[in-house]
Amino acid sequence: MRDFISILDFSRSELESIFEEADRMREINCSDILEGRIMALAFFEPSTRARLGFSAAMFKLGGGVIELGGPEKSAMSRGENFSDTIKVLDGIADVIVIRHGLEGASKLAAQIAESPVINAGDGSREYPVQGILDLYAIKSFLGRIDGLHIGIIGDLRYGRSVRSFILGLTRFLPAKLYLMSPESLKIKEDIREALNISRIDFEEISWLEEVISELDVLYVTRLQKERFPDISEYEKLKGTYRIEKSLLKEAKERMIILHPLPRTDELSPEVDETPHAKYFKQAALYVPVAMAILRAAML
Ligand code: CP
Repeated sequence: MRDFISILDFSRSELESIFEEADRMREINCSDILEGRIMALAFFEPSTRARLGFSAAMFKLGGGVIELGGPEKSAMSRGENFSDTIKVLDGIADVIVIRHGLEGASKLAAQIAESPVINAGDGSREYPVQGILDLYAIKSFLGRIDGLHIGIIGDLRYGRSVRSFILGLTRFLPAKLYLMSPESLKIKEDIREALNISRIDFEEISWLEEVISELDVLYVTRLQKERFPDISEYEKLKGTYRIEKSLLKEAKERMIILHPLPRTDELSPEVDETPHAKYFKQAALYVPVAMAILRAAML
């Protein structure tokens, strides 16, 4: 049994084992691997993919799902604290999947609970499940991660998915990363350091047009409106970048576009009809990846 708190807790070979398990899980519609086991969803922030992806995964593995629900539904509305809530979930469930707005909440939950804890996003810090899914999607669509030229555009400061994705890439050997974001939303120092320590070649660029023809993967993220300390700063940056279909004229035929979703206005719906758009297929891979993670966490 193990926790999934940071993608850096996993070596390359461990990540590759999860990919192989996810491959196997794609063949499974119904199994009894986790029959009689209970997964608790402790989501303190809204979610579509993580909440439903993990629920579907648990059902397919034969287990059951319980949900803490929003603050209005749980005893937290009567003053029960986070620690007591996690202790109670730990006593009822065999695994806890948590999403929280505060950085470090999942790590704290893992320290409190004996059952494995899976981090489905903690503030702006990390979302290792999404990072593993993103790496797996690249492996599935292109057959490899090593040697690829990967463009990453968006909110690189507050985006937890993109942070886990970049940290996960340090376990592999991409040819080069091109990072593009508004000036105030560049990668934080810890990510820069992780890239340097792993000797990953990366460049912070101002114009995607300059490199689009070199890319094998274009990873797009939205502005994380909910994380901006000052909403007027978000309003200023809104609409400053957007992927249009016309940009893709110079792209390699096999270049894929990924997005952790949800999207707002950074990716034109016109792109959906191009062969580059893989983000909905990527989202569908959430279920086998969550199945593989549940298995690795619980067995
Ligand atoms: N990518 C992802 O986790 O989406 P949700 O926030 O909808 O769960």
